[in-house]
Amino acid sequence: MTARRALVTGAATRVGRSIALHLASAGWDVAVHCHASRQPADEVASQIRALGRQCRVFAADLSQDDAAAELVDATLDAFGGLELLVASAANFERVELDAVDAGHFQRALALNLVAPFFLVQRARAALARARGSVVLVTCSSATTPFRNHLPYVVSKGALSHLTRVLALELAPDVRVNSVAPGTVLPPLDMSQSAVARLAASVPLARAGTADDVAAAVLYLATAHYITGEELRVDGGRTVARVERFD
Ligand SMILES: NC(=O)c1ccc[n+]([C@@H]2O[C@H](COP(=O)([O-])OP(=O)(O)OC[C@H]3O[C@@H](n4cnc5c(N)ncnc54)[C@H](OP(=O)(O)O)[C@@H]3O)[C@@H](O)[C@H]2O)c1
Repeated sequence: MTARRALVTGAATRVGRSIALHLASAGWDVAVHCHASRQPADEVASQIRALGRQCRVFAADLSQDDAAAELVDATLDAFGGLELLVASAANFERVELDAVDAGHFQRALALNLVAPFFLVQRARAALARARGSVVLVTCSSATTPFRNHLPYVVSKGALSHLTRVLALELAPDVRVNSVAPGTVLPPLDMSQSAVARLAASVPLARAGTADDVAAAVLYLATAHYITGEELRVDGGRTVARVERFD
């Protein structure tokens, strides 16, 4: 079988963890990136190895200059090549409009937009050799914004556009797509009533799961004639209405 090696950022917990485990179940070796969640990352690695796949764990603060390039280099040193890059690590800061300051923008853009770009830039040659692909994890708010998270929403809107720009730049050797989740795993500090209201507000009338997002990533990783696409996994949120998110 042709080698299938993936790097997944933010893979220790929640959505990124599910993506890493789905890929491993489908036969991919996985480089698991984490930031603070080293122990959960090691547990994910154990699960991946139990599936018979290779795994390495790399910790990095991707909001720092050069961290993205160093993460790609470490992955290539360990695996000798790369067929898939999944950028899932992100921050999600709630802040009302009048309280937004430069730091909110810097944090949102550094991790949610700039780091994915530099990951792709560094991985480009290896991905091209492998005729591989990139999946960026955006957000349904990139299409249909919600309130009180302006720097985050704008960062995801820019990441969504980066998908199309990079698809053009990297064709024909590397495909670039994105997955845009709606409400899948709400922030841990969100009240149960707010979660229920959000889930009920979409046409499918329920929240999605991390596995729904992972399945979409896996699909795009092997969809050989698709590039520049954003696959929304949002229960129909973006075709319904603008909802409150406060
Ligand atoms: N959950 C949802 O319902 C939902 C909805 C729409 C879009 N999304 C998008 O889907 C992706 C995954 O969502 P999620 O809810 O699983 O995300 P999350 O729990 O908020 O964070 C994902 C990961 O980002 C990593 N991270 C945070 N700061 C970092 C830094 N400075 N450097 C490197 N990594 C850092 C964390 O790693 P450590 O834990 O190791 O620190 C964490 O595991 C994100 O891109 C998110 O925007 C999620």
